[in-house]
Amino acid sequence: MKVAVLGAAGGIGQALSLLLKTQLPAGSDLALYDVAPVVPGVAVDLSHIPTAVKVTGHGVDNLADALQGADIVLIPAGVPRKPGMDRSDLFNINAGIVAKLIEAIADTCPKALIGIITNPVNTTVAIAKQVLTKKGVYDKNRLFGVTTLDVIRAETFVAELHGLNPADVKVPVIGGHSGTTILPLLSQTGLSFTDEQISALTHRIQNAGTEVVEAKAGGGSATLSMGQAAARFCLSLAKGLKGEAEVVDYAYVETDGADALFFAHPVKLGKNGIEAILPYGPLSAFEAKAKTDMLPGLQGDIQLGLDFVK
Ligand code: 2OP
Repeated sequence: MKVAVLGAAGGIGQALSLLLKTQLPAGSDLALYDVAPVVPGVAVDLSHIPTAVKVTGHGVDNLADALQGADIVLIPAGVPRKPGMDRSDLFNINAGIVAKLIEAIADTCPKALIGIITNPVNTTVAIAKQVLTKKGVYDKNRLFGVTTLDVIRAETFVAELHGLNPADVKVPVIGGHSGTTILPLLSQTGLSFTDEQISALTHRIQNAGTEVVEAKAGGGSATLSMGQAAARFCLSLAKGLKGEAEVVDYAYVETDGADALFFAHPVKLGKNGIEAILPYGPLSAFEAKAKTDMLPGLQGDIQLGLDFVK
């Protein structure tokens, strides 16, 4: 198994790479790419951790080496939010970064499973689809927007409220990865909540990224929890690739368009990426209204990405 992390020297990239160095299956290769000159040093640093995962560092001129033979490519590259910014404010810088990296993936490892972390995820995943399509290698079963951070935040906050171990809590989160497009399905947790709790929890999960941005006060956005979320999702992709049975995780993927062209669903993962997009099940009246209200915004975010490449 080879995993490439593009943007590996950044805040998310370093946390993610550390977790992958300690958690990928023995015998895996972990290729770290970044435009920042520190990337070989990050690779040397990680290489001293005694696990059977081989780490290599690749600078700005060696993207193809990092991607050669990759089974999974994770992309946290780009700039993060500062206080007062919405994820969509990152579009102008990050759209071009993602498009360039996806072009390289199309040229070097077109069969890789691609996990996009770079914001605005609602839009950058649509950009990736267009770039891959232009290159003639798009496979909707191999492209994912990583929304696992919304899931782990929801698990954490629900567990806190109910005094439970977060490991015992499961919260489906569907939709997109920005503000009200993030839709936690508290009605499917098997736990009871008052209307006030549902409203407050939903709002907190939707704004949790901003909670971190404000707490870091200009120092960026979530990196450590995002690293953990992306590592967890990567391990699900890896389990699917290895042929393990019943690997299901939530991700922002291309759908039949019933809600929006891209929409986070539970997906069954296998040797070729998505084996099936599973239905997200019945919604409460609160969730159904929240979904109806957010769809036009999400569809606009997606269209922006589709149009960017044209
Ligand atoms: C977040 O939700 C960075 O988008 C990421 O915090």
